[in-house]
This record gives sequence, structure tokens and C-alpha cells, in this order.
Amino acid sequence: MISRTTIDTVFETARVEEVIGEFVQLKKAGSNFKGLSPFSDERSPSFMVSPVKGIWKDFSTGKGGNAVSFLMEHEHYSYPEAIRYLAKKYNIEIDEIEQTDEQKQHADERESMYLVSEFARDYFQKILLEDEQGKAIGLSYFKERGFTDETIKKFQLGYALNEWDAFTNEALNKGYNLKYLESTGLSIVKQDLLAPNGTKQFDRFKGRVLFPIHSMSGRVLGFGGRILVNDKKAAKYLNSPDSDIYHKSNVLYGIHYAKQSIAKEDTCYLVEGYTDVISMSQAGVENVVASSGTALTENQIRLINRLTKNITILFDGDAAGIRASIRGIDLILEQGMNVRVLMFPDGDDPDSFSKRVSKEELTDYLKNNSQDFINFKVSLLMDEAKNDPVKKAGLIRDIVISISKIPDRIQQEVYVKECSRIMDISETVLFSELAQLNSKVQRDNASKPIQKSQVKSAPISSPNPNPNKDPNEPPIEFLYPEAAQFQKTLPTQKVDELEKYEREIVRILLLYGNNSDEFEDYVAEDAVDGNGRRLKKEKFINVVSKEIYLSLQEDEIEFATKIFREVYFEVINHLNQDEVISIDGLVNHPNSEISNLVTSILMDDEKYVLSDWDKKGIPVKKGIDVQTKAVLDAIYNLRRVLIEQKIKSLIGEMSESERDLTLENITNYTQLKIRLAERLNRVV
Ligand code: CTP
Ligand code: MN
Repeated sequence: MISRTTIDTVFETARVEEVIGEFVQLKKAGSNFKGLSPFSDERSPSFMVSPVKGIWKDFSTGKGGNAVSFLMEHEHYSYPEAIRYLAKKYNIEIDEIEQTDEQKQHADERESMYLVSEFARDYFQKILLEDEQGKAIGLSYFKERGFTDETIKKFQLGYALNEWDAFTNEALNKGYNLKYLESTGLSIVKQDLLAPNGTKQFDRFKGRVLFPIHSMSGRVLGFGGRILVNDKKAAKYLNSPDSDIYHKSNVLYGIHYAKQSIAKEDTCYLVEGYTDVISMSQAGVENVVASSGTALTENQIRLINRLTKNITILFDGDAAGIRASIRGIDLILEQGMNVRVLMFPDGDDPDSFSKRVSKEELTDYLKNNSQDFINFKVSLLMDEAKNDPVKKAGLIRDIVISISKIPDRIQQEVYVKECSRIMDISETVLFSELAQLNSKVQRDNASKPIQKSQVKSAPISSPNPNPNKDPNEPPIEFLYPEAAQFQKTLPTQKVDELEKYEREIVRILLLYGNNSDEFEDYVAEDAVDGNGRRLKKEKFINVVSKEIYLSLQEDEIEFATKIFREVYFEVINHLNQDEVISIDGLVNHPNSEISNLVTSILMDDEKYVLSDWDKKGIPVKKGIDVQTKAVLDAIYNLRRVLIEQKIKSLIGEMSESERDLTLENITNYTQLKIRLAERLNRVV
């Protein structure tokens, strides 16, 4: 683990414009820098860096943050990877902490395995490009397959001499430990009683061309080696065995080269093998990775999910293979990803096809021939089941299972309609099948602990709380899946309104939270005259953040939007500890969602500087001054929206047995709403 001191030093030292400047061409614009967004294709710059605030914002995609979050977005580094990168760039020594000797040793061992793998990569590459045998056998093979010099270098392809221990000896001579040569699988160690120390070692990949397999950040994890001679007994491909650094099921071949393009194109193409990735990349389609001949695992899908929600699976024309892989695709749907499939013409695979056609033909083919997975599955299986009722029944169930894996209910419904059409089966049948499966999923989930995000935020204080209602009760659609139908028909517009006011409150907190301002409120006078209770206006000074905190607490309001809730808690934490809000701490927050939101709010008032950018020297008005009115308006509006929502949901949940109680509640809330409206008008 990297120590807090190191992380702090990194943040203090790193200049956001220097870090980003290595990836984006930046031009000075007033006190800021501007450039073309690295996250989208654009002609006029909407990417902005503020050295003063230490943050960046990409107005074309809405992304933004600090130097670290830029590296995480752009290079797809993890947080510690980004810190390490910056430490290296600025020559900051990394202080590791909280590691037991055992952990340290383990980390050292993994590092040694990386180092020996990287040595092997360099060695095999050198043999391929410089050794006589390497050139004559390995290099000429790659050339024959149509790989250019540039491609061969980019993918760091190599060749292992056709000798028993050429590589192992070289590595040992260079001081690498046999232990790590063995644990990475590069060398195979066998007992040999005649040998001086009782063992003998061999090169695993002898006589094969080699494809290094990289992690997302580009470290070498293992190798795939292809045989070059026709040998029925030997496997065509030999891969590194699983080890402490290489877990076949967590790795996708090509992800290091593809990550940026996957994010930028917002799609990932999935192919079978090493050569498919390389050929497509050489043809200009870079957002492609390979599962290396096996079905996708959950961890591999998660890797892609970090970059895009859209995945297109490329099949070669072989139907048996397709049927075998179809089942695994439900796993991808389960993670909420959109799956499309694409077939190549008979006899072609992505490798051969990319070489046979021009770059334009390839991209056109990819663009025009993919189809939605569920539709594809239905059409494919329908062909077989058309005249067989038993098979057809099985197929319906099969399809509905796939649909039930999709987390989004609305999307499920769209598919049901579509499938009903293709299969010529009534929607009702499909819906009832789906409802059965869904309620099973719900039951299975119910036995797991409920996640916080699944529970609605606490209700605001009720004037007449329903004593029968457990505040921890999960939302209705969770208990009763069929109710989802009704929930959907409720207007969702209010939710956006809620978000709007929550954002506004967070914005005020961040920009003006530390200021003091004059507030006024209506307090009940002790004296009660004939007209009932009278209200008296009172003025007082308070720190803005405290006033907000107290008002929200008084109303028992908790933000419904997760990210605003998190930022709000952070701010309140700062307040409780330091009495002031520390913007720096939030901008540099390790949770990139938080730092993104804070950056985005801070940068919002810079937005219109962008359009006037080239007219230098024109002073630009910054934000509005904080006003009591803004603070109070936001809070009251938030309260109003919550009450409106509450009323709507009471109407929605109304049951015969509790009719009277619910109606009473609705009346109370409506009165509260009217009082609030009056108060809103009076705060001028
Ligand atoms: N594979 C493997 N081990 C094998 C066969 C295949 O690991 N014995 C993996 C490799 O990642 C390979 C992929 O499955 O790239 C697809 O297999 P295949 O289609 O046979 O290989 P190609 O990539 O088409 O290789 P080539 O074109 O060189 O024959
Ligand atoms: Mn193939």
C-alpha cells in the first residue's frame, strides 16, 4: 500500500497541465488551457484545464477531475497505478506501508515474476528480429501471415529458439532466479539424478512464435506460443500456465492496446484468438479483444464493462461453434451490457476477413451486419424449432431466461414484444413466463442482504406517520415485481427535479459553504391571537453550510441521488472535523465519482469562458453571489418535490384495507405542501 504521505506529496507536486499535456495538445487560453477532447472526435476544443484549480473538464463528454482521475479515465489506470505513474514522473520516492513481511515478500515475488516475464518478452523479441533462426523461421512466418513490421513491434511478438534450454540458460546467466522462471511457467524444471544439482530445466515454448499477453496497464502476464510445424500430437497453441500473475480467466488478450479505442468508440469487439485481434488492429479496428478460445468469464466481462456497455461478439461462419457459445452470453446480459453479434461469411474468421478486404469494407461490414443478440438467438433457434412444438416450447423458455437476465425492466419489455412478433406467440404468454422467472430472481435476491442503493432514502418526517409501515421496508417493486408495471407509469420527471435541487444544494455548499450570510426565518410567536398562531420574521447570521445542514436535518431529508448523498456526507464530515469545507480534499478525493462531481460543479461557472476563449482579456463574470434566497429556495424546493413524490406514491400504493389511513395521510401532506408554497413565496 502506498503511504498517505506519498499520496499527498504526489498531489502537491503534480501539475495537472503537465500531466495532461503529455496526452493532449494544450493551448493557453487566459488563465486556463484548452484542447481537443481526447474522449471524443471533435473539431473545436471543448476540453479545458485549469492549473489554478488543478482540475480539468471535458465539456463534450461531461468527464472531469484532477490529474489522477485524468490518468484513470484516459489510461484506464487504477488509483494506485495512477499515483505510481505520477510518482515516477516527478521522481517522488514511494513509501509503502502497512505491509507485513509476508505481504512484502509476496509483493516482491509477484514483482520478480513480472520482471522475468518482461525480460523474456524482450529476449524473444530480439531473437525474432535479430537472430538468424529467428528471422528465417519466426519472422518469415509472421510476414507470411501478413503482419507488418510495425504490427510485429507493437504487439511485441517473439520467437523461442528450437533448442531445449536456450532461453532458460540466458535468463539464469543474466541473474534471474530459477524459482521465478518456473513459477511463471517459462521454464519447466524436471528431476534428473545425473545433473549436478539433481534437476534439469527446459524451455516451455521451444520452437514457437510467441504472443505476449498483457494486463490492462501493459505489464506482461504470460505468453501464448504457436507451433510452426505440423505435428498432430502437439497443441497448436501452448499458453503460460495460471500463476500468481497470470489468471487466464481474468485476462483478455489485446485489452492493453484496445482500451482507449473501446472507450472512445463505446464498443468492444470480441473475437476468438490472438491473430484475429492483431489482424483487425492492423486493419485499423483497434477496439478488439480476444477471449482466447474459451467462453467469457464474469471477470473478463467486468474488465470490458469498465470501458463500455456495448459488446459485439464476432463469430466465424461455423454454426456449431455459435450454438456452443450462446449460453455464455446470458452472463454478459446479466451485467447489464448490450450484446450484439456479428457473423462473418462462410469460411472467414476476423483474421482472414480483415486481410481479404479493404479497411473501408471491414468497417462497413462491422457497422452494417451486427444484430441484437436476443433477436439473433430467436431467429437462429426458431429455424430449428419451427415445426416441432416441443422444441418450440423449450425455446420460448430459453429465450425468456435470457431476457430475465437483463437488469433493466423497460428493456425486458421491449424484448418480449419483439420476440412475440418473431416467434408468433402472444405477449401474454411471454410476460407470464417472465414474471415467474423474475419473481424467482427476487426471491433469490431477498435471501441476500439488501443493498443500500436498493432502499429508497428515508421519508421526510411525516405529519401522521403510518405506524404499520416499517421504515426499512424495501421499495414496493422489490417486494412485488408485478407492481413494477404501475411504478413505471408514474411520471419520472419529478426525479430529475429532485436531482436538480440536490445538485443545487451541493453546489451552494461547495461554492459558498464557508461564507456567512444573513438568514431569516419565521418563528412562532408565543402569543396566540384570535387568528391562531402568528409568525414573526427573525433575522440571524449563520455560516451557509451550517444553515443548510440544520435545515436538512430538521426536515430529516436525505438525498435520494447516491453521489450527492456521498458528497454531502463528505462535506458534513469536513465541517465536523475542521469547521470548514476543504475543496482540495474533495477535488482530490480517492473516489473518482466524488472528485468528478466536485470538479464538474467547480468548472461549470467556467463553461462560458470557453465560448469567449479567444477574445482574451475580457473579464468574465464569475458565478452569482450567494444569497440567502438561493439557499432557502433550494431547500424548500427540495422539500416540495419530496412531498409531491410522497403523495404520488401514497396514491400508487393505496390498498382497500388502508384506504382511510392513506387518504388522511394524503390530506396532511397536501396541507404541508400548501404551507410550504406560502413560505416559498414569502422568502423574497
Ligand atoms: N487456443 C488455445 N489453445 C489451443 C487452441 C486455441 O489457447 N490449443 C486459443 C488461442 O488464443 C487462439 C484461439 O484459441 O488464438 C483461437 O483458436 P484458433 O482459431 O485455432 O486459432 P487462430 O487464432 O485462428 O490461430 P491461427 O490462425 O494461427 O490458426
Ligand atoms: Mn481461427
